[in-house]
Amino acid sequence: MQPELLMMDNILDILPSGMIVMRVDGSILKINQKARDILGLSPSVQASDLNHTMPDCLIPLVKLMEQATQDIQRAEISLSLPVRPEESTLGFSLKFLRADDTQPPLKILTFTDITQVQKDQLAMEKIKDELNQSKKLASIGTMIAGVAHEMNNPLTGISMSTSLLKMNLERLKTLPQVQEHPKLLDSIEKGLLEIHKIARASEKAAVLVNDLLAYAKPIQMVLVALPLQAVVTDIVNALKSHPHFSQFHIEIKGQPPHRVRCDRIKLEQVFYNLVKNACDATDGKGQVTIFFSEAQNPKDGAPQVVTHVKDNGPGIDKALMGQIFDPFFTTKGHRGVGLGLSICYRTVEQHGGLLSVDSTKWQGTEFKITLPVFEEPLYLENNQGVTGSL
Ligand SMILES: Nc1ncnc2c1ncn2[C@@H]1O[C@H](COP(=O)(O)OP(=O)(O)O)[C@@H](O)[C@H]1O
Ligand SMILES: [Mg+2]
Repeated sequence: MQPELLMMDNILDILPSGMIVMRVDGSILKINQKARDILGLSPSVQASDLNHTMPDCLIPLVKLMEQATQDIQRAEISLSLPVRPEESTLGFSLKFLRADDTQPPLKILTFTDITQVQKDQLAMEKIKDELNQSKKLASIGTMIAGVAHEMNNPLTGISMSTSLLKMNLERLKTLPQVQEHPKLLDSIEKGLLEIHKIARASEKAAVLVNDLLAYAKPIQMVLVALPLQAVVTDIVNALKSHPHFSQFHIEIKGQPPHRVRCDRIKLEQVFYNLVKNACDATDGKGQVTIFFSEAQNPKDGAPQVVTHVKDNGPGIDKALMGQIFDPFFTTKGHRGVGLGLSICYRTVEQHGGLLSVDSTKWQGTEFKITLPVFEEPLYLENNQGVTGSL
């Protein structure tokens, strides 16, 4: 080979993108080093070897080049590469190049591996969604607190006025002049009945306002380091013996060795709500599988434990996914209140974790409770002897 051509060859090898050059007859003329790296081929593999035996991962690219009849600007192709177990994505461009008009064109494919970039983008989108959800809940909470607070004043007014009115009518009833007029007495009795109804209705409204205020105020928690396995097993056993879940199948797979710092009652409420929803979604006859995995906090790499609560129910419509964590969102009509998931979300968030969901219509639903692992030793020595660390 002429020295200039050899140099051109070396230049192609230091390009940051993969490159494959094909003749119109489908034979490969050149493959550069980056292409070999991306496709997981040995550095010694030459274009002539590929024309002889074609590795599986190259077949989709060769087909793409063979079928192309014109330039392709920036497109993507999914294929499986030996470098990773899951599908990979390559971003590519294809160009037809002619040395001169008498020569048939060469097809030049340049490509880069964008699998990780796409994954990072998806992760970013997810983080943004989660952030929006938590901001949305915070602002809804503030709004609820404001409305509930404002409703308290008129309700107090109504209840004071009805009590006064009631007292006055009761007194009126006892007057001899009134006692002598049965029609007047009857009207007063009817008035008292209406007042009773107003008092009952405003009491109900006051209870609702109190519930709303309780929902809006920060959750008070008593945090203790506990083995996650024990918390999950206890609540599942309690649910299994509950008549509501008698025909529902609940199974725990695996035993996480991790401890988490949690408010046991609050965390149990989360599991109760998730299992109850799964049970509701399957008319009480479905099944839920609880299993565990490990993760890392994307912000600081701290270890996390993920509890998966997966059911075989009808799944959740894509269009509703953005609303299920909103307070008062329910698809159960008068049977639902729509506070379960929103409370679960806040509770898990207050444990320094995250509640997320994956669901495809007709393919079940999987809620994931991600919690930080509590890593400190179980017992600490101090001057008084051995005491629990928490
Ligand atoms: N496991 C599940 N399968 C299908 N839909 C679910 C599941 N869990 C929650 N949902 C949906 O989310 C909505 C909100 O749930 P939640 O906040 O617990 O309120 P509620 O149970 O009172 O409706 C439910 O009405 C339902 O549409
Ligand atoms: Mg619910």
